[in-house]
Amino acid sequence: KEIIIKKQKLYKIHLDSARYFFNALFQNKNEGYKYLINRGLNDKTIKYFGLGYAYSNWDDLTKYLLSKGYKESELLESGLVLEKKDKSGYIDRFRSRIIFPIFDVRGNVIGFGGRVLGNLLPKYLNSPETIIFNKRYNLYGLNFAKKYIEDETLIIVEGYMDLIGLFQFGIKNVVASLGTALTKEQGKLIKRYAKKVIMAYDSDEAGTKATLKGMNILNEIGLDVKILRLDEAKDPDEYIRKKGVDLFKQHLNESVSFVQFKIDILKKDYNLNNVQEKLDFTKKVSQILKQIKSPIEVEHYANKISKETGISVNAIVNEVYGKYSNLR
Ligand code: CTP
Ligand code: MN
Ligand code: MN
Ligand code: MN
Ligand code: MN
Repeated sequence: KEIIIKKQKLYKIHLDSARYFFNALFQNKNEGYKYLINRGLNDKTIKYFGLGYAYSNWDDLTKYLLSKGYKESELLESGLVLEKKDKSGYIDRFRSRIIFPIFDVRGNVIGFGGRVLGNLLPKYLNSPETIIFNKRYNLYGLNFAKKYIEDETLIIVEGYMDLIGLFQFGIKNVVASLGTALTKEQGKLIKRYAKKVIMAYDSDEAGTKATLKGMNILNEIGLDVKILRLDEAKDPDEYIRKKGVDLFKQHLNESVSFVQFKIDILKKDYNLNNVQEKLDFTKKVSQILKQIKSPIEVEHYANKISKETGISVNAIVNEVYGKYSNLR
């Protein structure tokens, strides 16, 4: 019971803080506001997501929250306020940053992400884990996206700006994993709302690696996983601004199965004009195809590989099942 009261208090602190950051950004149309406008967001979007700004001052928010009657111990527990090293007072965690409120699925503010305006590091600073914010159990934007699920599908992106960018262009069935490491718990949360997922991570190496890991997790949970590749841009936000929503949707429709994605990645490591490499590639692909339960699907991919390598479908399929297997 005590913990429920504690949680309620933390929700209130977060809501008050979110309003404070939002007003700082929106009333003053300061450098934070200009930054977001420069990145293509409009007022409606900024309001919808409650984006805010934290000035460079040491303790703006701390003072504000104390003036609202919160206790120092409560502020410390919220993670938004830190004690100075010499214990002489308190300072704000977020300073000189754009503020992204993080909501739980019911719409409570449970934490914040803060982005620097320039190229300083770390680019993003996030709330620490608290009794109301457990990062691995939460998906940014699910509180919004759950109202817009289409064709039982959710799109998963890495970052705040990807989700907000897509949203502004009308693609609203999107959640963000907040970083590259998708957890099993996040997968299970998705499954409560959707049957299919399209992973649309960044096209850099970190994003590719995270896609491989994430899709295995999602597949194991029983979700139908597809992968969206946007090689012409570094992430979905950049893509949709550069290429427009129509091309984005076209790519969305061309999302590949996770088997195809693995094959595509593998292919990059082999020169198919070299006989030995071609054979090695085909054998490796056969290993991937072993994971498929449906013989029809196996044949489909075997067909494609056959066209690319000149090795017969029959040989590939035999390799997949083992030539003397009873399965054939
Ligand atoms: N992230 C983080 N801490 C970092 C870097 C990234 O928590 N130091 C999380 C953030 O949630 C971020 C996401 O990982 O949104 C993806 O990171 P990245 O691709 O680097 O940033 P973008 O979302 O593309 O941000 P921007 O477009 O503003 O550069
Ligand atoms: Mn990234
Ligand atoms: Mn393209
Ligand atoms: Mn980006
Ligand atoms: Mn990115």
